[in-house]
Amino acid sequence: MLRLDKYLSNHAGVSRSEARAYIKNGIVTVNGDIIRSIGQKVALEDDIFMLNQQVSISGETYILLYKPAGVICTTDEEEKCDTVMDMVPDYDDMGLLMAGRLDKDTTGVVLLSTDGKWTHKVTSPNYLCEKVYELETADPIDEDLVSHFERGVLLKDNPKPTDPAKLVILDTHKARLTLTEGRYHQIKRMFGACGNKVTSLHRSAVGIVNLEGLEEGGCRKLTKEEIDSFASKA
Ligand code: URA
Repeated sequence: MLRLDKYLSNHAGVSRSEARAYIKNGIVTVNGDIIRSIGQKVALEDDIFMLNQQVSISGETYILLYKPAGVICTTDEEEKCDTVMDMVPDYDDMGLLMAGRLDKDTTGVVLLSTDGKWTHKVTSPNYLCEKVYELETADPIDEDLVSHFERGVLLKDNPKPTDPAKLVILDTHKARLTLTEGRYHQIKRMFGACGNKVTSLHRSAVGIVNLEGLEEGGCRKLTKEEIDSFASKA
């Protein structure tokens, strides 16, 4: 559950103080009722209108989650460890699908939605949606990897090299890598195939969606602009 003023500032493109003023003036409704309490708690599924415009996206649900390390990307209810689903408020089996998984020790952007066509657009390499990762390695990063990753790396389980990936070396042991596909343990295996080892991995963005303003372990609904940004095929 989220405070109504915070919800509006996250999803309606207004500041927290503007949101409070709108609420006090009685122009915000939650499930058809005028709400004047700025601290009113709202759920991801509530129907919220401000100035007669719908703020919440009805029908499907689209969520950004800031995954901490140690949490598993699975929808398996039987899983004994902490899962990303435990972190979604009011999850209650709303049928969320994961748009790409991260390893247990990887942190950062995880996108979830009830809309299977949309999650396909996020994950399918055909849509060229960019996933940006910040990483650290055990050994210094060889400059030749920039062109090697651009050409593609052959991984053991697949005769097709990885799609072109953009590597920016930030420091001897630090880099930013942008991928448009998501194979199993892809980044760790790409570095492993080149004789290095990834020691820390963080996904900072998927398409235009990033973690700005969100604390580790937190989640929020995506804005309409964010949802629609994944709509077109490259
Ligand atoms: N590549 C990996 O190796 N692990 C992740 O979690 C994501 C991409």
